[in-house]
Amino acid sequence: MKLEKKVALITGAAQGLGAAIAARFAGEGALVFLGDLSAGAGEITAARIQEAGGRARFLPLDVTREADWISVLAAVEEEAGRLDILVNNAGINIREPIEMMKEENLDAMLAVNVKGPFLGIKHALPLLRKSGGGSVINMSSVCGLIGHKYTTEAYTLTKGALTLLTKAVAVRYAGDNIRCNSIHPSTVDTPLVQELFKDPARKAERLGEVPLGRLAAEADVASAALFLASDEAAFLNGVALPVDGGTTAD
Ligand SMILES: NC(=O)c1ccc[n+]([C@@H]2O[C@H](COP(=O)([O-])OP(=O)(O)OC[C@H]3O[C@@H](n4cnc5c(N)ncnc54)[C@H](O)[C@@H]3O)[C@@H](O)[C@H]2O)c1
Repeated sequence: MKLEKKVALITGAAQGLGAAIAARFAGEGALVFLGDLSAGAGEITAARIQEAGGRARFLPLDVTREADWISVLAAVEEEAGRLDILVNNAGINIREPIEMMKEENLDAMLAVNVKGPFLGIKHALPLLRKSGGGSVINMSSVCGLIGHKYTTEAYTLTKGALTLLTKAVAVRYAGDNIRCNSIHPSTVDTPLVQELFKDPARKAERLGEVPLGRLAAEADVASAALFLASDEAAFLNGVALPVDGGTTAD
C-alpha cells in the first residue's frame, strides 16, 4: 500500500478525475476527504469508495470561498489529526474565445481555477507543516504548458497561472518538507468527449495531436497523482508532469 497512514484532501472529487484520484488513493490505504460543491454526488462517491473497502468522507467545499477552506481544514484536523496530501483538482472551463468572453465568466474561471488552489494551499500549509511535510498536487492541463490551438485563452490563462503557482510554492516551502507539483493531462476520455467524437472530423483532430494516438484515461491521471503523492516521489518538487501521450513534446 503506497499511501498507508496518509490523509488526503481532494477538491472537485464528486466526479471525474477527482473521484478517480480519491478512489485510487483510498485503494492504496489513504483516508480521503472529498471536497466538492456538489453534496449529492460527493456523498455517493464517498459511499462507493467505502463500499469498496476504502476510507472516505465527503466535506462540502466551494474552493472560491476562504471561509469554506478554513472549516474544511478544521474538520480534517479534528477527524484525522493530520494532512499529508492536498490535490487541487476542482476546475471549470467556460469555452468562450477571448473576443466573446463575458467578464463574469472570466471572473468565475479565475476564481475556481486559480484563487481556489491559492486559498487551498494557503490554509493547508499549517496542517501540512504540523504533519511533518507533505505533497501538494495541482491539476493543470497541457494548456498550462503550451498555447493549445483547440482551447480558449481564459482556460490557458488559468492553467498557466497554476503551473507557476506550483513552482513558487515548491521553492518557498521545500524547507518544510512540503513538495508541490502539477499534473498536465491532455483530453481525458469522458462521456462529454465521446459525445464530441460523434463528429469524425473533431475526433481525428483531437487524436491526431497525441503521439500515442489515444485519449488519456482517468486511470492514467490517477496513476500520476498517486506517484506524486507517494514517498516514491520524495525528490520530485516543482515538477510540471505532462500526462499527455507526448502531445506537448511535439
Ligand atoms: N477532463 C479533461 O479532459 C481534462 C484535461 C486536462 C485537465 N483537466 C482538469 O482536471 C480537473 C478535473 O476535470 P474533470 O474533467 O474531472 O472535471 P468535471 O467537470 O468532471 O469535475 C469537476 C468537479 O469539480 C467540482 N467543482 C466545480 N467548481 C467547484 C468549486 N467552486 N468548488 C468545489 N468543487 C467544484 C464539480 O462539482 C465537479 O465535481 C479540472 O481542473 C480540469 O481543468 C481536465
